[in-house]
This record gives sequence, structure tokens and C-alpha cells, in this order.
Amino acid sequence: KVIHRADYQPPAFWIDTVELCFDLDPAKTRVLNRMRIRRNPDVVPQPLRLDGEELNLARVLVGGQGTSFKMEDGQLVLENLPEGNDPFELEIFTTCAPAKNTKLMGLYVSNDSFFTQCEAEGFRRITYFLDRPDVMASYTVTLRADKQKYPVLLSNGNLVDHGDLAEGRHFAKWVDPFRKPSYLFALVAGQLVCREQRISARSGKEHLLQVYVRAGDLDKTEHAMNSLMASIAWDEARFGLPLDLERFMIVATSDFNMGAMENKGLNIFNTKYVLASQATATDTDYANIESVVGHEYFHNWTGDRVTCRDWFQLSLKEGLTVFRDQEFSQDLAGQPSARAVKRIEDVRVLRTAQFPEDAGPMAHPVRPDQYLEINNFYTVTVYEKGAEVVRMMQTLVGREGFARGLTLYFQRHDGQAVTCDDFAQAIADANPESQLAQRLEQFKRWYSQAGTPHVRVQTHFDAASGIYTLTLSQSCAPTPGQPDKQPFVIPVALGLLDAEGRELTSGLHVLTQASETLTFPGYAAEPVPSLLRGFSAPVILDYEYSDQQLLALLAHDTDPFNRWEAAQRLATGRALTFLRSDSAVQLDAPYVEAMRSVLRHPALDAAFKELVLTLPGETYIAEQLDVVDPQRVHAVRESMRAQLAQALAPDWEWAYEAHKDTGAYSPDPASAGRRALTGLALTQLCLAARASGDTVWPGKAYQRFKDASNMTDRFNALAALVSAGSDLAAAALQRFHAMFRNEPLVLDKWFALQAGAPDRGGNVLPIVKQLMAHPDFNIRNPNRARSVIFSYCSANPGGFHRSDAAGYVFWSDRVIELDAINPQVAARLARALDRWKKLAEPLRGAAREAIARVAAKPDLSNDVREVVSRALAD
Ligand code: ARG
Ligand code: ZN
Repeated sequence: KVIHRADYQPPAFWIDTVELCFDLDPAKTRVLNRMRIRRNPDVVPQPLRLDGEELNLARVLVGGQGTSFKMEDGQLVLENLPEGNDPFELEIFTTCAPAKNTKLMGLYVSNDSFFTQCEAEGFRRITYFLDRPDVMASYTVTLRADKQKYPVLLSNGNLVDHGDLAEGRHFAKWVDPFRKPSYLFALVAGQLVCREQRISARSGKEHLLQVYVRAGDLDKTEHAMNSLMASIAWDEARFGLPLDLERFMIVATSDFNMGAMENKGLNIFNTKYVLASQATATDTDYANIESVVGHEYFHNWTGDRVTCRDWFQLSLKEGLTVFRDQEFSQDLAGQPSARAVKRIEDVRVLRTAQFPEDAGPMAHPVRPDQYLEINNFYTVTVYEKGAEVVRMMQTLVGREGFARGLTLYFQRHDGQAVTCDDFAQAIADANPESQLAQRLEQFKRWYSQAGTPHVRVQTHFDAASGIYTLTLSQSCAPTPGQPDKQPFVIPVALGLLDAEGRELTSGLHVLTQASETLTFPGYAAEPVPSLLRGFSAPVILDYEYSDQQLLALLAHDTDPFNRWEAAQRLATGRALTFLRSDSAVQLDAPYVEAMRSVLRHPALDAAFKELVLTLPGETYIAEQLDVVDPQRVHAVRESMRAQLAQALAPDWEWAYEAHKDTGAYSPDPASAGRRALTGLALTQLCLAARASGDTVWPGKAYQRFKDASNMTDRFNALAALVSAGSDLAAAALQRFHAMFRNEPLVLDKWFALQAGAPDRGGNVLPIVKQLMAHPDFNIRNPNRARSVIFSYCSANPGGFHRSDAAGYVFWSDRVIELDAINPQVAARLARALDRWKKLAEPLRGAAREAIARVAAKPDLSNDVREVVSRALAD
């Protein structure tokens, strides 16, 4: 059952054309699939094995004639096919039951409309096929359905025909001008409305852009459309990649396993990443929509035009496309400081989610070597670490060199299904003098070796000679199946500052050996090193910065990333000291003063201040410990938060008053930053009020909650009340629910806020159980399940890791319950206990028991089975 990368074999047959004809019916949809197939002359003749899953097979015809076939391992096997390499026609007639499809893979029904999700292996749930990305075919699709119930009928490509049929039915015929793998197939049918935009490209060509949503949501599509237009313009300007389609459609559905899907010309999105209005969406939602719309659009080239040879190459398109969407958002942000804010946010995701993955039982290389279930490998490693690998390539060859490399990549591989090696080769070949080209084989260890490398830095200053030395040593701990690691190619951007914070020198050092020493002569005094600027490589930097050095970097570094990082290190160091020593949490004056001067700084952006003044998350702090008591981590961080609230109370008040009015709503980075800082200030003021018993600030927060003109301010005020455990929280929550009872995405926020609230005496789990009994809860809807169950199990360590193990029992019950409905969602939840081995006893034993309880279920999906068995392996 386990699939290995090394076992790749080219397909024994090619499918050149596919004609699909759907008679759509929720209970029983009929699918007629007519293919032109030929043998792959490079492969020894063998039977044709077609993938299929949960299909009812009615008929198989070869060249119009009945033929013999058999079923083997769930595949349809045809042995008596024409010999020779001439194409032949294969016709397969099946039915499936979209209304019963709770896995949301293949063809399913959501809110009375039909949607598909085929990546990675969902097309086999629609028809028998060579469901692998290296088989690319031309598709013609005819959809037939009841006209009243399903007035809109969409598929990939261009609409070439449509009309009425008997019995109130109608049809639409679509032809996709591009060959594509089956995972990019899509269809949509239902009562949808759309926002349209016609644009003319640089080439002069006309394009029709459409965003389809349910009636009533049309007023929430403007931002998605603007993001789409910005994406098209950006890809053309930055990489010379134009829109290649006459028609580009986005469709939103509220039942979706992931964020969105790049089906050729017909992207299907989770509503969360399409719908936005100032009344219902936060600044974060606006930013996420921009980046996900960009991401899916950029896939049109990096994914659709050039796709993956096999699923082990997933990062070929995902790492590259995440890199592209990150660059897009940075370029749109414009100002260097706003770009830095985006970079910090991206690194924060990498370090709080990917680093733990890389250190846990599911650790895998960016290009995995094996899987039981490919859906388990749509991970932060393949996506975010993969993006960092692409970013390092750009660092090594320069921005222009990288664009040149991408051009060569398309020259070589347009229309092909290729590998990560092909990509790296193209970037290197376009830059033959670069360090990437010179060390390509070693660089590619980033694709093959799992685990986060450590870079240890030791410094020495010889006052007599004025020579400063930096010794950089790299190492990487073993990961499952990889006991020994070879050195990586690690670009280390660095600078040296003098005592007054002036920059003395800066540059890029490419670390390739296990250990290297850099020498800087000619200094009168010991400089302050600013290491790994901009987070130039996805590594853990081990350097014993002194507080003095960190305070200097925070105050003066020219690299905004390292300014932020200095504050994180100051805070993390303190949290770890409190945790290790069992001593009372008492923040020292120098730290508090440093935070005050950032908060009061006349020149820094509000968004940057908010990032600096937000303490590192509990998960991040926990990751720095060998043995973790999550409740203590929570308690220590909460104390630090409360002390910052009290010690800086007048400054928070100033920050709140100075930033609280942002005028007419606009989600641009500057106004969003002001709202973010206002929100943090309000939370801190409510926390300080909690300690002092004052009621003024909770009252102001409640007022702001009521009066807010946009969701960001309203939600931040609500969150401040909840986070501070204010007496007004309950009333505010009730009011919020009443206001937004008809807005599913807002209700998700309402659920998530409560399930993720700071635990006070074990109060969250009972609340979570009540939320699951709420009439608006529905475990079959992934967004809703995530908003309650994941917010508790994955995002609320203080509430989840209970000493009575009730959190773990709840977790195992939900994993099992979800697995019967939707294995992909269940497997994500299963990963909440990935890091169980780090837990302090008795939590460790209790977590192990809970995982074993799940693993003992005999009929688990491959998805969950793979996660729990890896968790239990030693
Ligand atoms: N390719 C999509 C994206 O990154 C993700 C789809 C993953 N779907 C899945 N069922 N694994 O935009
Ligand atoms: Zn993607």
C-alpha cells in the first residue's frame, strides 16, 4: 500500500482525448466517458489498469464493441486491447452518488449545487481513468441537468454550445483548449450568480473574468475580482506570464476541504477565500483572499501549464506557487516596511507550524520519498518550506537571474509533467556562474533531506589585532528514515553593527561546509552581529545573543526582520527562563522599556509595532523545550502578557487613542496595521483592567464592539473582551451571534473565538462541547468543524492539554467520528497530537493512550491510519 518515489514508472498508455458527458442528479449521476487511448511505445505491452473508486460500472466498450474486463485492487483491468501503437476508442459508462459524497473528493453536492475536487486523486471517483498527473489529455465536457435547479453549468475552458433539452433540462458543452492531467478537471452546476469583468491584456486580447457565488453574496465579490485582476497584471509584469485563456472563472463553495483549487480556467474556492465585505470580513480575511486568489491564478503557469510528473513532486508546483504568492503580496504591499511585515508573517507560519512538523513523526523531505495517502502530504513542509527553498534559489541567483531561470523553465517544459530536479536545473542553467549552479547537487539536499538544520554561530573578537571572527557550524538532527544528514547550502545574509547601531558591513555568506569561519579585520571594538537577515534560510539559528546585543538590534538594525527577531528572542529567552527555573514571572525593566520605545516610536509602522509587541506563541515557545507542560507555558505567557499590559498601560492607552480612527474602511496594509495595533492595545487594556478591577476599558471595548463600522474593529473588540475574560464577553458574544446568524463565515469566527479562548480553570472543553450541540454546528461542514474542533485541539494548547486527559479523549472521539465522514479532515485533526512525545508526564502517557485508541479502530481510512501509526512508531 505504501507508494515509493523510487518506483515511478511511466504510464503504459496515453489518453489523448476525453469526452465526458454528465447527466447530473444528486442521487445518481450518470457519467459517459469516451477516450482515445494508445499504448506508450516506450513501455512493454501490458494490460490497461484504470483507477476507480466508489463507482458503479454499467458498461465498457472498446471500439464500440463489448469487451472483457476484470476488477483487481479496485482497478478496472482490460487485457484484450488492440495490439500495436494505434489509438483506439474506450467508452466507459458509470454512475455515482454525489449527494452521499461526504468526503468532498470527486463530484459532490453542497447547498444544492454540484462541485468537484479532483486533486490529488479525486477524478477516479468520477470515472475510471489513468488518474495520475503525467497523463495529459484534451477534454470536451457536456453537462446535462434540470434547468431550474441548475441554471449555471460550468467546466474547464470555453463554452462552445448550450441549449434546452426535453423535460425541463438543459445542457452546456465546454472545450478546454489546453491538455491537462485529470486532477485539474472541474465542473460546477447550480443556482449561482456572478460578477463579471472584461479586461484586455497587454497583447490586446480580450478576457472574461467571472466570480461565481450564491445569490446574496454578490456584494462580497469585489475584493476577489480586484485581487484576480491584480494577479493577472503582476504575473505579466514580474515574470512575463500572460493569461492564456479567453475565460477565467472562480467559483465559491462553503463545503471545501482545503483553501482553493487551481482547476484550469475554473478555480474552485472555499468561500472563506472569496467573500469579503467590510461588515463581515477582517483585514486578515482580505489579505488571505488576495494571496489565495493570487496563488490559484499563479498555478495557471506553475502547476497547470507545467505540472508534476508524480505526486512526490508536489512542491514543484506548490513551493513555487507559494513563493510566487508571497512575492505578489509583498509587491502589492509596496513600502519596504510593509514588505517586511509580510515576510515576518510568513516566517512566523513557517516556524510555528513547519518547524514542529520537521521535528515530529510526520517529518518528510520537501520532495517526499514515500506515502500511504498523498492527501497527508499537502503540508507546510511541501508548501511553506518548499517556498523557502525556491526563495533561497532566488537569493543565490538574484531577482533577475531567477526570472531568467523561470523563463528557461517554461521554454523547456511548457506542456509537460516534470520533476523538482527539472526546475532546479532550469534556474541553475540560466545562471551558470551562480553559486546555485556551482553547487546544485548539494543545494538539492533541501529537497531530499527532512529536518530543520541548526546553524550554530560562535564569535570571537581579538582586541589586539582588531579581528572579528564568526564561526558558522551546521547540523541537522535525524528524522524518520534519515539517520544521517549531509551539509546543506545555506545562504546566510548578515551585517555587523557598531555600538551606536551604525552598520559597518553587510553581505551574503553561502555556508556549504559543516563548519566555516569568517574573518573581519580592522575593528576597534567588538561589533554586534545581525545574522540570517530577512530569514535568508529556513534554519534554526543558535547564537547566544546577549540582551545588550538584542536591544541594540531591536533599536537600530537596518534589517526589519531582525529587529522583530530581536524582540522575539528577548521574549522567548525570558519565557524559557521562567519555565526552566520555576521562578515567578517578573519582566525586567530593560525589556519593558525596550517594548515601550518600540510602541512609542515616532517612525515605525503600526503593523510592525503590533508584530513586535505580540509575544511569541505558545506553540513556538513549547518547541524550544525538550519537555513541555503546555498549561505552564500558557500560564507563563499569560503572566508576561498581563505584565506588559500593566507596565505599559499609559502607552497602550496612547496607542489606542492615536490609532483607533482609520476613516473610511480600506484593507490596505497601512490602515490594517493601525487596526491591528489598536486591537492589541485594546486587549492589553482590558487585561490590565482585569488585574486592577477597573471597568472603564471593558466598557469602552464593549462600546467599540457595538459601534464598529467594520468587522476587524468589531471582532478585535469582541476578542479583547473574551481574551481578558471580561464580564461583558457573554453579552457581546450573544449580540454578535444575533447580528450575524445568517453569515456562515462570521459564525465560524464566533465559534473559533470561544473554542480558542484562554482557558480559565478548565472552562474551555465544556464550552466546546456546548458549541458542538449548538444548532448552527455541523460537523460535516469542514469550515465549521475546524472552527470548533481544530480551534480547540490545535490552537488552544492551554485548554486542550488537560491533566485529566479529557481533551485527548475528546480529540480521539472526534478523529474517529470525522474519519467516517471525511478522512482528509480527520487526518488533519489527528495531527494535533504530533508532538506528544515532548509532553511532560502524565500528559505524555495519556496522549499516547488516546492515539493508541484511535489506532486500534480496525476500519480507519489510510489518511488517519498513516498519521497515527507514524505518531506511535519509534
Ligand atoms: N492545489 C491546491 C492548492 O494548493 C490544493 C488542493 C489540495 N487538495 C487536496 N484534496 N489535497 O491551491
Ligand atoms: Zn497550490
